Amino acid sequence: MMKMQSAALILILSGLVCTGWAQTPPVSIRPRSAAVKPGETVSFLCRVTVGAQPVKLEWRRVNNQPLGDNVKLGPDGALLTIANVALSNQGGYRCIGTTPQGKFTATATLSLRQPPQVRVSPGGQLRVLVGESVTLDCSVSGKPRPSISWIRKGTGGETQLAHTGSETSARLQVTMMSSEDAGTYLCRAQNREGLVEEEVELLMDVGGSPLASVLETDLTAVEGQSVTMHCQATGSPAPVISWSKLRAPLPWQHSVNGGTLMLNNLGRQDSGQYICNATNAQGFSEAYVQLEVDSPPYATTLSEEVEARAGDSLRLQCLAHGSHPIRFRWTRVGGASMSPGAESTKDGLLRIAQLRPTDSGTYKCTATNHVGSSEATSRVTVRG
Ligand SMILES: *[C@@H]1O[C@H](CO)[C@@H](O)[C@H](O)[C@H]1NC(C)=O
Repeated sequence: MMKMQSAALILILSGLVCTGWAQTPPVSIRPRSAAVKPGETVSFLCRVTVGAQPVKLEWRRVNNQPLGDNVKLGPDGALLTIANVALSNQGGYRCIGTTPQGKFTATATLSLRQPPQVRVSPGGQLRVLVGESVTLDCSVSGKPRPSISWIRKGTGGETQLAHTGSETSARLQVTMMSSEDAGTYLCRAQNREGLVEEEVELLMDVGGSPLASVLETDLTAVEGQSVTMHCQATGSPAPVISWSKLRAPLPWQHSVNGGTLMLNNLGRQDSGQYICNATNAQGFSEAYVQLEVDSPPYATTLSEEVEARAGDSLRLQCLAHGSHPIRFRWTRVGGASMSPGAESTKDGLLRIAQLRPTDSGTYKCTATNHVGSSEATSRVTVRG
């Protein structure tokens, strides 16, 4: 009994010595590390160099996360393949071989390679007012982590500029903009995979007083309609536009959208002068729109019923309000002919010097302007 135990112990010890476990681990992975670009495919092969086959092979992530949907294992568990590698696949992969001699593990690491990407905001061309400050932020990604620098491009070459920020972003501040600060700046990011730059151009803006202008200076509309007035302004900083009405508040039914004023359901009282006011730190500028709201005539007669005697003289006055000019016309209702002695004036007066009994009847005044027309009547009774 005693003898057998020691024999078995010797066997294990000699196994240890022969395979040299201390130098060559019983489980190994090829390759031991891989660096690939996102979207590529990578494989790790786990091999067991000890003990009798088959052994049980298992793969785990070092961070204890699940392997992931894009990770596939070969039928015997030896080959681990990651297709369409993403950032989340980065890290260590552990192969665990369970042999009759015990459990053995080996680890391989996957890292991503990515050329730098740079984004500067605000970007492109920037107008900066004299004396104002501007902050330029450059954010960078890439694997391995790129170095970031802000550079001023000049005729004499490049100048490296001091910046603040973290490992993935760099902030450049230009304070008190002056003509010396105008020019081209670039943010540069570099790693083993490449070098990328993005440029920003700073233009010095001396500022300018506003200048307001309207598309149409005279507008006409008809009562009940809507009208839109457009105002534009140049200047620096960009002027703020406001609308008002001369000597009156803006009509109740109005809306303002940027430089555009819209008036709805117009009434005659909305006629008048509208003022667009463009204001910035440098001053203000006004532009005017004259609005004329036209209305159709509304006609009335001074007396609806007139009684007179034959031989009397008759005066019928027609009145109308509405947009001028208004034309008046007197006619007789029912087709009877107008007295030969009748005269009418431009301002709506009908005169008959000597009434006859046949002048009895209804007289109609028609008032017309360019928008429409309206009628009013007077009944005349002549007694014999
Ligand atoms: C236009 O704006 C300026 C500055 O705000 C102001 O002084 C001026 O009175 C305004 N004009 C009108 C017509 O409102």
